[in-house]
Amino acid sequence: MTFLSFIQKTISLRRNQYNFEMKQEEQLLGNIVARDFRAASVLSSAGLDFCCGGSKTLDAACREKGIRTEEILEKLADLENQPVIPGRNFNEWQPDFLADYIVNVHHSYIRKTLPDLLFYTDKIMNVHGDRHPELKEVARLFSKLSKELLLHLDREEQVLFPAIREAMRTKSPEAIETIAGELPGMNDEHEFVGGTMDKINEITGGYKVPEDGCNTYAVTFRLLQEFEEDIHIHVHLENNILFPKSLNLQI
Ligand SMILES: [Fe+2]
Ligand SMILES: [Fe+2]
Repeated sequence: MTFLSFIQKTISLRRNQYNFEMKQEEQLLGNIVARDFRAASVLSSAGLDFCCGGSKTLDAACREKGIRTEEILEKLADLENQPVIPGRNFNEWQPDFLADYIVNVHHSYIRKTLPDLLFYTDKIMNVHGDRHPELKEVARLFSKLSKELLLHLDREEQVLFPAIREAMRTKSPEAIETIAGELPGMNDEHEFVGGTMDKINEITGGYKVPEDGCNTYAVTFRLLQEFEEDIHIHVHLENNILFPKSLNLQI
């Protein structure tokens, strides 16, 4: 993504974010979840990507997936009858607090889970790879993702998030410049991670364990599915809430 296309995308995201008169089907998936986190489960269960695909409108995303938009609108309307969880209103949080939350919850989850998943994806590939050759591709993709993701977390923790904290404290032009310079690369890396997990999901048939799959096979697929769900929330919090808010710090 070029810097110019990133800025254009951000402007259109912001326009969409603050247009409360807009019909829900015309709103961006990322903004629907940013305003009401309960919508995440509705969109996820319909296979609608609100993190890396968060800049698509609900209507466009439904058409792409061959889903009736009205069906999703009805489910979103039903959320009004469900309890709100006040502690999950991420959109209200200050950027520094949200950055701390992301590090403590999502980054530590990834650092704890990656070694287990690398071990398990390798193990099931060695045991079942001859009968299920897709496991070789799963292990290869996950190993590549693991290396890229660890570098990405380090860069957020060592460069981007400190700049966000600094920009909030001092409005320093250098910190604001660092944020603007970091975001396009971060967005590209999110697309790579989200796209890789999409591929793993696809080639495993949605993490479906075959008849001859052992317990380790089942555990690996369950962990991979959890990992993908966590990545979706994590990337959503950054792409749709933290990053747009960080760009606003200069105002
Ligand atoms: Fe992150
Ligand atoms: Fe990130």
